[in-house]
Amino acid sequence: MCPQNASVNLQEAIASRKTFAIISHPDAGKTTLTEKFLLYGGAIQTAGAVKSNKIKKTATSDFMEIERQRGISVATSVMGFSYRDIQVNILDTPGHKDFAEDTYRTLTAVDSVILVIDCVKGVEEQTERLMEVCRMRKTPVIIFVNKMDREGKDAFDLLDELEKKLDIKTRPLSWPIGIGATFKGVYNLFDKGLRLFHANKTKRETEVVQIDDLEDSRLGELIGDAAADTLRSEVEMVEGVYEPFEQEAYEAADLAPVFFGSALNNFGVRELLDTFVDIAPYPLPRKTDMREVAPAEKKFSGFVFKIHANLDPKHRDRIAFLRVCSGRFERNRFFHHVRLDKNLRFANPSSFMASEKSTIEEAFPGDVIGLYDTGNFKIGDTLTEGEKMNFKGIPSFSPELFKQVENKDPMKSKQLEKGLRQLTDEGVAQLFTQEPGNKKIIGTVGDLQFDVIQYRLEHEYGATCDFRHLSFHKACWLTSNNEAKLDEFIRIKQNQMATDKDGNWVFMAPSAWILQLEQQNFPEINFHFTSEFKREGIPSN
Ligand code: G4P
Repeated sequence: MCPQNASVNLQEAIASRKTFAIISHPDAGKTTLTEKFLLYGGAIQTAGAVKSNKIKKTATSDFMEIERQRGISVATSVMGFSYRDIQVNILDTPGHKDFAEDTYRTLTAVDSVILVIDCVKGVEEQTERLMEVCRMRKTPVIIFVNKMDREGKDAFDLLDELEKKLDIKTRPLSWPIGIGATFKGVYNLFDKGLRLFHANKTKRETEVVQIDDLEDSRLGELIGDAAADTLRSEVEMVEGVYEPFEQEAYEAADLAPVFFGSALNNFGVRELLDTFVDIAPYPLPRKTDMREVAPAEKKFSGFVFKIHANLDPKHRDRIAFLRVCSGRFERNRFFHHVRLDKNLRFANPSSFMASEKSTIEEAFPGDVIGLYDTGNFKIGDTLTEGEKMNFKGIPSFSPELFKQVENKDPMKSKQLEKGLRQLTDEGVAQLFTQEPGNKKIIGTVGDLQFDVIQYRLEHEYGATCDFRHLSFHKACWLTSNNEAKLDEFIRIKQNQMATDKDGNWVFMAPSAWILQLEQQNFPEINFHFTSEFKREGIPSN
């Protein structure tokens, strides 16, 4: 293929891809909405398929057994489908707060998100945290207020709550007619169509009644005179209070369009999907420590944002999930692994269409592919065609829970070391080493990770361990332009110093108060709360 053609195809590929994540507090309806999207995309044929797939996985994998036992979605899965000529890639995220880091990392691999809110519960704790990450990254957000078939909060109150708690301007693009028992449907403020509600778990809702405007005499006949009056006055208020929808404000993550519906009843889902396809961004440029990389650049680049172990227990391999950022990824072609300074090629890269995994020949910006890994990858690794750069924004956060690992079976020390190394490469937790005595300390953001580590060490590596609680407050990475001061700090604080897996110094602050004190005492030292600093300030070649 001549290079000119290749570039045309690359452009076309970029202009036909949208990659996003659905995020929510657990139980708001993320899985149900994902499933309905997949139904529209023809990627699955029956409702229930996404959940039954979850169960199937748990039955075949030890790791997933934990997910089943806990009743939460530990893994982030990738699902793709085609809708109106757009290749839509959904990255699913675990809702449980102990796996928040996994979700944060997944958000580095998407170009926009749909946030699902339960209309009964409103904005919940996890919703706020997730939105903080979206704001930090300026990720465009569409909000779907779900479960309108239940007695929830008033729509205006919900919008106020969204604006206040999530610190973002909202703009309803649809408006609910009643709620719970009186829920009759939604009025689309954009195309002025009425979608009338019929509870229906499996079929797609089809009845769209086009009315000229809200004065249309059919409105009263369709929804009743009282509901029609309420709708008229509420819509008037919406148009008066909320600024018109602006694509630019949405793309800048300043404004979130809001939809109302019921994912379970398949209501309001199609207009959400249609609007998503209309307004959500195509693959966006991404920053590296050297420069910004545009998707249309001919040379391939991408980064690993997730590593998943032992999807199939018969194979010990892991799968590294890579987001393609620019150019064309090709099967069996050598690419440069920047951190290892090594060229690697991949014989069986896979793509994910709903529950199906299949080998691909090529992939384009916005795509997420699975690479079989025998231990070469860590979260955040970059692949290029040779250029030495690292994608930014895939940080490890300062952990807040710490436990020292105690080996229960000295005959299995090697297995334990290997297990700890591999599990922490996957990003399950962070590993620190303290001298003297080569003490291994695990740091996490949630308690559940300790269970996951213990379980997986035993089932995958044959190593058993106990944990001893350590009362550190935070681990912070240290840098300074003043080497002497840094050395002095490390010497004075040697009992609270450790190194991370890359040999960087980390201060294990015993309390918030002491941390603050040390920051004041040592103004020459920078205390970092994410590992992102490692990628900063690397001189360009
Ligand atoms: P999650 O992935 O965000 O954790 O939520 P999920 O989709 O699993 O939904 C959580 C629960 O909320 C499920 O009920 C689901 O059926 C229900 N749900 C989702 N959308 C709606 C909706 O529009 N209306 C109503 N009334 N319920 C909704 P469950 O009882 O926990 O599970 P299941 O037994 O129904 O599978």
